[in-house]
Amino acid sequence: MLTPTAELVVPGRGVGAFNVITVEHAEAIVAGAEAAGQPVILQISQNAVLFHHNRLAPIAAAAREVARASSVPVALHLDHVEDMALVEQAPEHGFGSVMYDGSKLDFAANVAETRKAVEFCHAHGLWLESELGEVGGKDGAHAPGVRTDPAEAVAFVRDTGVDALAVAVGSSHAMTSRDAALDLELIGRLREAVPVPLVLHGSSGVPDGELTAAVRAGMTKINIGTALNIAFTGAVRDYLGANPKAVDPRKYVAPGRDAMAATVEHFLRVLAA
Ligand code: G3H
Ligand code: ZN
Repeated sequence: MLTPTAELVVPGRGVGAFNVITVEHAEAIVAGAEAAGQPVILQISQNAVLFHHNRLAPIAAAAREVARASSVPVALHLDHVEDMALVEQAPEHGFGSVMYDGSKLDFAANVAETRKAVEFCHAHGLWLESELGEVGGKDGAHAPGVRTDPAEAVAFVRDTGVDALAVAVGSSHAMTSRDAALDLELIGRLREAVPVPLVLHGSSGVPDGELTAAVRAGMTKINIGTALNIAFTGAVRDYLGANPKAVDPRKYVAPGRDAMAATVEHFLRVLAA
């Protein structure tokens, strides 16, 4: 069933938030969540919207209908949005939350722009996540080596009114190996200091044990994207390698979708361990 994000992002447990690019991603994520018996968040990024010729409606409708038909609670989240015009489309398409990404801005500009997104979302009953940039480098908050300063995070949450905060604690986006080392001690300090749920981005590159430990240390929303694409593409490649004459996309997309579902189930079990 389609469920508000705010009901799933509850301190004390880790909820998986998986990136949706195509309808098969949504189907696989929900199948994996049903197999694990866990709630899940379907998130569509601004980049995924751009892939769909900059149209939110078709992919949002697909994800929303897959969510509605699910036997476990499923939330719909709009992810890494830099364009306020896209934030403003969220309510009409059934999203329960938005991540406004001002991480490329300096602190003051990030606060000012994030506040605008917060005001819009709260006026429409949506939950807003944001991210701190300029924490330790100009490559963004999730470049390797960048960390979030707890005092700065507290000030940012106070000044913006965000409902959740993405923090830089050692993960990094789009890793295809699972060897990121998280700063669990920093997660604990952020959890103590910051009064809203903490979000881990770039979780595909984090080993299983570190993910479980991160949830125990205080991370609440765990964002996973690349790992699904690794699973999907690997299965498609295997199928086409073994069946070079195949032309029906259903023949090779189906094993890709099954591989994504198995990956989602695995991650959700790791988060709940
Ligand atoms: O917001 C989405 C995530 O941070 C996904 O990152 O593709 O590295 O798992 P990932
Ligand atoms: Zn991210």
